[in-house]
Amino acid sequence: MSLSAHEIRELFLSFFERKGHTRVKSAPLVPENDPTLLFVNAGMVPFKNVFLGVEKRPYTRAVSCQKCLRVSGKHNDLEQVGYTSRHHTFFEMLGNFSFGDYFKESAIEYAWEFVTGTLKLPEEKLYVSVYRDDEEAYRIWSEKVGVPSERIWKLGDEDNFWQMGETGPCGPSSEIYVDRGEEYEGDERYLEIWNLVFMQYNRDEKGNLTPLPKPNIDTGMGLERVASVLQNTKTNYEIDIIYPLIEFGEGVSGHRYGESPDTDVALRVIADHLRALIFAISDGVLPSNEGRGYVIRRILRRALRFGYKLGVEEPFLNRGIDLVVDIMKDPYPELDMSREFVKGVVRGEEERFIRTLKAGMQAVEELIERAKEEGRDTLKGEEVFKAYDTYGFPLDLIDEIARERGLKIDIAGFQEEMEKQRERARKHFKVETKKVKPVYQHLKDIGKTSEFVGYEHYEYETELMGVVKGEELVSELSEGEEAELILRETPFYPERGGQVGDTGVIESDRALFKVEDTQSPVDGVIVHRGKLLKGTLRVGDRVVARVDRERREDIMRNHTATHLLHAALKNLLGEHVRQAGSLVADRYLRFDFTHFEALTREELKSIEELVNEKIRENMPVQVNEMDYQSALRSGAVAIFEEKYGDTVRVISAGEFSRELCGGTHVSRTGDIGYFKILSESSVGAGVRRLIAQTGRWAVETAFREHTLLEDVAQSLNAKEEEVLSRLESLKSELKEKEREISRLRQELLKFQIETSVKREEVGEFTLFWGKFKGVGAEELRNLADMLRHKTGKDVVFLLSEKDGKLSTVVAVSKETTDRVKANQLIKELGRALKGGGGGREDLAQGGGSNPGGFEEAVKILRNRLKDISSGGQ
Ligand code: ALA
Repeated sequence: MSLSAHEIRELFLSFFERKGHTRVKSAPLVPENDPTLLFVNAGMVPFKNVFLGVEKRPYTRAVSCQKCLRVSGKHNDLEQVGYTSRHHTFFEMLGNFSFGDYFKESAIEYAWEFVTGTLKLPEEKLYVSVYRDDEEAYRIWSEKVGVPSERIWKLGDEDNFWQMGETGPCGPSSEIYVDRGEEYEGDERYLEIWNLVFMQYNRDEKGNLTPLPKPNIDTGMGLERVASVLQNTKTNYEIDIIYPLIEFGEGVSGHRYGESPDTDVALRVIADHLRALIFAISDGVLPSNEGRGYVIRRILRRALRFGYKLGVEEPFLNRGIDLVVDIMKDPYPELDMSREFVKGVVRGEEERFIRTLKAGMQAVEELIERAKEEGRDTLKGEEVFKAYDTYGFPLDLIDEIARERGLKIDIAGFQEEMEKQRERARKHFKVETKKVKPVYQHLKDIGKTSEFVGYEHYEYETELMGVVKGEELVSELSEGEEAELILRETPFYPERGGQVGDTGVIESDRALFKVEDTQSPVDGVIVHRGKLLKGTLRVGDRVVARVDRERREDIMRNHTATHLLHAALKNLLGEHVRQAGSLVADRYLRFDFTHFEALTREELKSIEELVNEKIRENMPVQVNEMDYQSALRSGAVAIFEEKYGDTVRVISAGEFSRELCGGTHVSRTGDIGYFKILSESSVGAGVRRLIAQTGRWAVETAFREHTLLEDVAQSLNAKEEEVLSRLESLKSELKEKEREISRLRQELLKFQIETSVKREEVGEFTLFWGKFKGVGAEELRNLADMLRHKTGKDVVFLLSEKDGKLSTVVAVSKETTDRVKANQLIKELGRALKGGGGGREDLAQGGGSNPGGFEEAVKILRNRLKDISSGGQ
């Protein structure tokens, strides 16, 4: 039995652990500390700063199996994927690292021992390469390890000099190859499996190499490749952790792997891209129109397009997610946690694009037809841009379809259109940027910025430096006036990073100013908004600024709780959870985050429990100031939307939470007291909102809710735990009563009919007439309707007085309407009743104001019917 990929991974990690290496968990695919890189593309990326000597770790030897995505920048394999046996977007890289510890000799010896001893690859099948000028490496291979010189190749920059990107750590390398036998050709025969990089230099923007403080080792062995060698498969796609995905594609499309080169390409693309999508999305990357999100969107669309080529015209990728998760969840438990989230994202994205795909295909076909008719061999940039812009149809796809039909695209023309579009977007964006009131900018220009002392003080004696009234600066303020005060130093926190501004008072010995809000309209300028309640204030006055301490402490509780909540969500729901917005007020906090579906009651309960547990642990909340890069390296969570200065504050609550944050916090988690979630809701696709409370406000809510329950119980005359069942039985009792009432009404009506409705034969007709009290118009109509079905020659006239109003109804059997028309009769009778009415020939309703006219009306009716019977009209 050959080794499984999972076994190989574990053998590698434990081999180097035995050699004194610390096992380091794979970092997320999104680099935490590197804006120059979209995705982690090699095992060394998380250690980049250690190589550069700007970060220290508690170990000098590390081993990892790192998730990698090669889809952008220097190492971009996207376009090749599917067409070759070895290229992937997503793959796993096994690597051992030395940070100024061992160098070439041990690196080579360890690698050899692992490959020949642990993996048991036959020595005579192994070849190695060294950088052509690297005599040292050559000597180690030939003298220490004993590889015969004909199996050591000297290669140049292209093959044996490795660098992470255009800049960054780099160095000469040495590679190990396996001869897979004569049935393979070229690179496929001599397959490179392991790259040992002797990291010695840093390359700067100008391309200059400077030696690193200490020489390091960085190695990389593609897990899929080595598995393919050991499992003896022709390409990487047949290994145990990938082949099930090829089979998935077969199942979905009804095509078979191996049936034709085109089919194979498509099935490989689907298998590869599925893995990439799942790993990236579960690390929090959502498809979008820019940056990382755009790369993910392209991968998804590329996979869909290849599915389409195989005849699959509906969303299918989401159905492969469980498969990938089940294969990979042991080494990567985060996949399991975000399984449903990923499915939702992929499904939504697929559904949107499938529609585009169909519409776009059609549009492109039309372009092609038109070009052919006009005898052109090129699609115009403008028309291609239009298809691209209207349908979001990817350019590479248009290009590919065009090429298949023997046409080209005017790429330059397309780019020009694209640039115009960007220009329009830029203009649009400019208008949107917020305007700063000139007076605030002026304050900044003349240096009237304030020092914030509110991390340490609630109260501070200082000088009144400026007063803004409306749009201008004034030097004096009198009682009753509203204004914004500027102080030399201030303990008042201005609204920032989601935390609301402080309130309080600013006092001098002759004046009292009430601060209703604090804002910082321009960086450094802090304004205290409010009203002078008493006295006068002059610029230059000594004042004492006093923050409303109780309120501020409420805010701090909510702020620290927000951090705990953020960490709890990541913990319980998965790494895809990202903060999408937050508000930290005094009475509540609001937290928006990425997650695909509504949280269940159980999830809400676990979140609330975990946060409260962390509160009870009473962990110290520490504040550390450091530079941005070190902060990220320390593992702190940075919020995308926020801008950070060079020096940042890192707030940590024990080991549980660590975030960059400028806000104010309690000093121990226990100070929060109590955390309670009030509601959970949706605020757009893939974003949920939680509202919660802490401290006294949470207690207040709990109390109010309980009092309400008590009151309800009391009014129901039940115990609290019986309230629900009592309500249920009340509801069914009520239903029973309603049934009873309607039964009684029926009885009553019958009785009324018997007592109040007279029946007489008038000529050929049967006349019913009657007078009621308190019967509504609708009931009256129902009654009349009932009566006109008696003989087929019925004429009904009913009247009721209710609340001082008269309602009348005339109804006629349907069979009789050719002779007697209800809507005419009601008008005639209206004369006696001082009213009128109208309706259909068989049923008419009306009103009147003369109840005394009833007898008269009946008489008229009787005569009318007699006339008709005797042939009159
Ligand atoms: N960083 C080296 C590579 O990616 C090991 O090949």
